[in-house]
Amino acid sequence: MCGIVGYIGENDSKEILLKGLERLEYRGYDSAGIAVRNGKGITVFKEKGRIADLRAVVEDEVTGTSGIGHTRWATHGKPNRVNAHPHQNDNDRFTLVHNGVIENYHHIQRDYLADVQMESDTDTEIIVQLIGKFVAEGMTTQEAFSKTLTLLKGSYAIALLDAEEEQTIFVAKNKSPLLVGLGDGFNVVASDAMAMLQITDQFVELMDKEIVIVRKDSVEILTLDGEKVSRQPFKAEIDMSDIEKGTYPHYMLKEIDEQPAVMRKIIQAYQGADEKLTIQPEIIEALKDADRIHIIAAGTSYHAGLIGKEYLEKMAQIPVEVHVASEFGYNMPLLSEKPLFIFISQSGETADSRQVLVKIKELGHPSLTITNVAGSTLSREADYTLLLYAGPEIAVASTKAYTAQIAVLSILAAVTAQSKGIDIGFDLVQELGIVANGIQAQVDMKEEMEQIARDFLSTTRNCFFIGRVMDYFVGLEGALKLKEISYIQAEGFAGGELKHGTIALIEEGTPVIALATQEAVNLSIRGNVKEVAARGAHPCIISMEGLQEEGDSLVLPKVHELLSPLVSVIPMQLISYYAALHRDCDVDKPRNLAKSVTVE
Ligand code: F6R
Repeated sequence: MCGIVGYIGENDSKEILLKGLERLEYRGYDSAGIAVRNGKGITVFKEKGRIADLRAVVEDEVTGTSGIGHTRWATHGKPNRVNAHPHQNDNDRFTLVHNGVIENYHHIQRDYLADVQMESDTDTEIIVQLIGKFVAEGMTTQEAFSKTLTLLKGSYAIALLDAEEEQTIFVAKNKSPLLVGLGDGFNVVASDAMAMLQITDQFVELMDKEIVIVRKDSVEILTLDGEKVSRQPFKAEIDMSDIEKGTYPHYMLKEIDEQPAVMRKIIQAYQGADEKLTIQPEIIEALKDADRIHIIAAGTSYHAGLIGKEYLEKMAQIPVEVHVASEFGYNMPLLSEKPLFIFISQSGETADSRQVLVKIKELGHPSLTITNVAGSTLSREADYTLLLYAGPEIAVASTKAYTAQIAVLSILAAVTAQSKGIDIGFDLVQELGIVANGIQAQVDMKEEMEQIARDFLSTTRNCFFIGRVMDYFVGLEGALKLKEISYIQAEGFAGGELKHGTIALIEEGTPVIALATQEAVNLSIRGNVKEVAARGAHPCIISMEGLQEEGDSLVLPKVHELLSPLVSVIPMQLISYYAALHRDCDVDKPRNLAKSVTVE
């Protein structure tokens, strides 16, 4: 969470920083700020709220050829102007932006800064105050920067300006993502390549606990001990059109619509020369070698993991457990002799998942990351990576990454099964092709989806999603989508579970969205619908061709039952989208959220 940018070159930095922050706004939008440096010193502009609010306070007449910027997702201290970054030390010589959490900031304040009056409630301010203090005691800025970093516990991506060292931005990272971008006569710093793609596509990856001295014509990477590090830049393979909204009113709608194309791209990416599905043999061997797989993920990715478990168990016949990442690290189950860990993460940066990866690596267990972002932290640090090929996902609510995760998990399970000599009984390539058409049919039914949202959700305070087997897992995702963007209280339940307590919440008119795509449980889920309808609920049944009954609100095209989540989630996404629109919610940037959750 939080995004940082920096620029040093020959042009005015203001617009470059603001544009960069707009591209990073998905990382947090509680407040924003920039610091612009010129020969006269450093000027800081900051404001509560969005980058648009910051733009309104930035003064045109202040110009400067270097600067840093920040967009915040509040962790320590309220989302107000005082807590907005950049922060400065007490004599304003140093100005700093930070993404991450400093866990020992209280100790640092007590041990080193007892005599300094803090301005903000943030954990960040102690970093800049400490650097100022060490410099006042006689250290150079670089020495003070290094010394400060050795004292910090936690995660950080930092960019620092020194008013007396006009030609430099000091940069460092630990656990939080940060890249340095290379230009002709300028260099940049960004949490994500997307932020600076309009001026460069050449980036250098930074490793934890490195310091980078960024000048307009040089980038020097050093270890904390001062040893020089050399690293080749890479080209960011992102198409500018992938990160623009185009004619769409919201990124979320664009990303929902992209799902048929993403399905086809995944099939292509995982097809070998003989058109058979293929995955690197070492990954398949690692799965075959495991006596149990643990899937680790958060939020929507966790919901995809629940479906992945079905695939890996039913197709590849390997036992699987699915864990919420933030719990696993502190409550590790008894592990078998040869476990393998699969991390599912759109961003590849989720701190809850990463802390598990660090722990299981210490224990010596193999790991595979399934992610949308090549070169992300989870991808770099796991033994193996499988990519989602979904293209950048910018809306905070995940849509196309979820279906991509499920598709890649199905391919992983099928290829493992094949390598074990297990016949899965169907042609996955053909069935995924049918799924792509099924998704297309759903995204083409926007008017019907909008009508369902209007009929069932326009005035309600709460909503339940029920289903059995695969439909239960999709219901969990449907509920998450609805609550995060429309703020309607929504919960997903296994159809049979509602009557064990939660049915007490059913009142006259409470919407219950029931999924009925699984033949074996079609009658029992319809029985559950009758139970809630008898108590006044307003049921909306979404079924599948071949299982439909009169009165169903929506009938999905027939796809292979195991792959049904790929199609049945589309109405969940679209109904949530329209429910949020009707309530005037900010669909792409729901309150209190951020896209990439890089704090535990
Ligand atoms: C919900 C959503 C989140 C993420 C979760 C994990 O729409 O996007 O629940 O799924 O924060 O993020 P990743 O997949 O980046 O690890």
